Amino acid sequence: ESTGESKITSQNTLNSLSIAAKHLTNLQPVAFPTETVYGLGALALNNSAASCIFSVKGRPPDNPLIVHVSSLDMLHSLLPSSFKMPKSYELLMKRFWPGALTLLFPSDPNTIPSIITANQPTVAIRMPSHPVARALISLVNTPIAAPSANSSGKPSPTTAEHVRRDLSGKLNLILDGGACGVGLESTVVDGLQEDGKIRVLRPGGITVEDIQETLQEGIRDRESVPQVLVHRRDYRDEELEAAPTTPGMKYRHYSPTALVTLLMTKSPLPKSVVPSNVESFLLSIKDTINPSASVKVGLLTLTDSALGTLALPVVNGVEWCRYELGPSDVPSVTARRLFDGLLTLDQRGVDMILIEEVNETNEGLAIMNRVRKAASEVQWITF
Ligand code: TXA
Ligand code: MG
Repeated sequence: ESTGESKITSQNTLNSLSIAAKHLTNLQPVAFPTETVYGLGALALNNSAASCIFSVKGRPPDNPLIVHVSSLDMLHSLLPSSFKMPKSYELLMKRFWPGALTLLFPSDPNTIPSIITANQPTVAIRMPSHPVARALISLVNTPIAAPSANSSGKPSPTTAEHVRRDLSGKLNLILDGGACGVGLESTVVDGLQEDGKIRVLRPGGITVEDIQETLQEGIRDRESVPQVLVHRRDYRDEELEAAPTTPGMKYRHYSPTALVTLLMTKSPLPKSVVPSNVESFLLSIKDTINPSASVKVGLLTLTDSALGTLALPVVNGVEWCRYELGPSDVPSVTARRLFDGLLTLDQRGVDMILIEEVNETNEGLAIMNRVRKAASEVQWITF
């Protein structure tokens, strides 16, 4: 297991890290890079430090935070002494830590402030792999609570510049570690239920397929391999919204300023829907946005799809801005680019963002989860 600290070599980086550590120790929040997205960090075991996070983000207090650790010793220092690590957790931690997997553990109320858990009986913990994140946690030598470093409801930041644009003036320090490699938040997993099943509460950087494979390989007796349950949300699933399985699920999320329309090109058509022809849809888009002024329309498309390779029609008063999400058979690239795509098009001042459906295998599940939450509208289109 690489600790990552050794990669931080330049004097500048060391200086920045120790300044950031000082801020944290003085109970001030700091934005820092992780391999998934940028986090807004504060000391997890300090009530007033943690409460700053909620005010900077404008986050509802009933949405709990993820606690980040830099070592297994630090993890164990947080757990109730009576807790026995499930076999499934041992396997998942061995394979995916440090990395984009968050696990739920029973929360010891004597250790974890209730503001962190939003009074849930569990606490979400992860060990990030980003060298800057690991070095920062090691330096303060205590766990750091960190949600994504965006205003509540906005897309998560994957560069320091994204954080600056969103939160400038609301925090003193942003550590710049370049662009995040994964680009989507961690996968949140609950394996604490009595039935031993693994529940994916939020799909993310670690895929369900990889989780399944890890459990199958690690548990010889086929009968004992726990089932992995995933909530596949339909677009605006009101029922799930009313009874969220992870508190973060019930809020509108990942929405840039521009309206986002999801273009369904693959999924089977619901009976009640008449699909638009793509040409006529694009030709009429100006009228749906603003018939009396010129409009800018952003497109997030795959490099090789029918929509991605389509020559966009010339329409009076419409400026198209295309941002490529990579090839359809490499969802990890799409995952890395998605939030940057939403934020970049927003920055360019588009009035609407059209985003195309991707396959829900591997990283595609997490991608579509974020896209559905960002979209206020869905259109089925045919070619
Ligand atoms: O990749 C990530 O996870 C990033 C980086 C910074 O580590 N962090 C992140 O945090 O995405 P945040 O706060 O944006 O999302 C945390 C998610 C929310 O959906 C929250 O409801 C869920 O984890 N969560 C936290 N504690 C939980 C708990 N005790 N039970 C169920 N869900 C929990
Ligand atoms: Mg977030």
